[in-house]
Amino acid sequence: MSENNTILAIESSCDDTSAAVVRNGKILSNVTTAQIIHAVYGGVVPELASRQHQQLILPVVRRALDEAKVSKKELDAIAFTIGPGLLGSLVVGVSFAKSLALALNLPMIEVNHMQAHILAHFGTDNPPPFPFLCLTVSGGHTQLVIVRDYDAFELLGESLDDAAGEAFDKSGKILGLEYPAGPLIDKLAQKGIAKYKFSEPRIEGFNFSFSGLKTSILYMLQKNMGENSNFITENLNDICASIQKAIIDTLIKKLKLAQAFTGIKHIAIAGGVSANSGLRNALNVWGESQSLLKFYIPPISLSTDNAGMIGVAAYYKFLKSDFADILVTPTASLSVV
Ligand code: KG4
Ligand code: ZN
Repeated sequence: MSENNTILAIESSCDDTSAAVVRNGKILSNVTTAQIIHAVYGGVVPELASRQHQQLILPVVRRALDEAKVSKKELDAIAFTIGPGLLGSLVVGVSFAKSLALALNLPMIEVNHMQAHILAHFGTDNPPPFPFLCLTVSGGHTQLVIVRDYDAFELLGESLDDAAGEAFDKSGKILGLEYPAGPLIDKLAQKGIAKYKFSEPRIEGFNFSFSGLKTSILYMLQKNMGENSNFITENLNDICASIQKAIIDTLIKKLKLAQAFTGIKHIAIAGGVSANSGLRNALNVWGESQSLLKFYIPPISLSTDNAGMIGVAAYYKFLKSDFADILVTPTASLSVV
């Protein structure tokens, strides 16, 4: 299959409506509209998310084509997220992709969202060589993966309950912060000192557990608020720094374990939480003491949900003529393999 191709990619798995144009594996445009409607509800409301996707998808696709200066006639394939994600949201993206593919008589490419987070690195100027180890940390998933090729993934471990992003968001909710709390906790943490300790998850091996953190935070808050009802407002920066440290310490501990076990020297992070400054700093500190290790951190535009990563992943499927059937339906729960 020709390496010269132009793909329109659509991402609609959760609360970001996104479209991108990818030519020969390079991202020409990547337009994402985050649905702010969910903030007041403290989390994503699935029904509202799918309705928002319906309203936003056409203008977002138009902008992606305009910004890339690509006309519909120049497209060679339509790519879309097949899962994992919210079923109603996925259906909007898949149906839109099907209609466009039928109207333009183009092949479709289905893309696994978790694989795309990892393959986002191939949309940068400095992709990791195979094999590499990837820690994918998003709002719905925490996964440790050995990446052997564009289509060869080996899952080492994953979260058994809350994902890392969920741990940030739920902790934020306890503190009264708006959804999604991850970026705000990150910002406040930079002004605080991690002086509060929380019980560490007792999970052996490469799996993660973050659900106990919420209980530990609640106990700590209850204890301190009994003495000072303004405890949260007066100590918000330090509380955020402590929560962030607890989550990042766990992630780094498992990543180090996986590195020692596999001996793989190239280490990448992916997903929304890879935008976290604490995680990025922790990797820099690790790198200073281990000069043989090489770290790959995606730009923030490719960390959080975006269609650019879907288009990049689709490019490698296009090369193998790995096209989807017109009867394809989305899958809400799908792992990386
Ligand atoms: O990958 P993503 O955009 O969507 C999913 O596939 O879930 O990840 C969203 C998650 C949210 O939980 C959000 O709070 C978190 O990523 N996030 C952050 C940061 N930026 C986004 N968490 C901590 N620090 C950040 N800077
Ligand atoms: Zn994601």
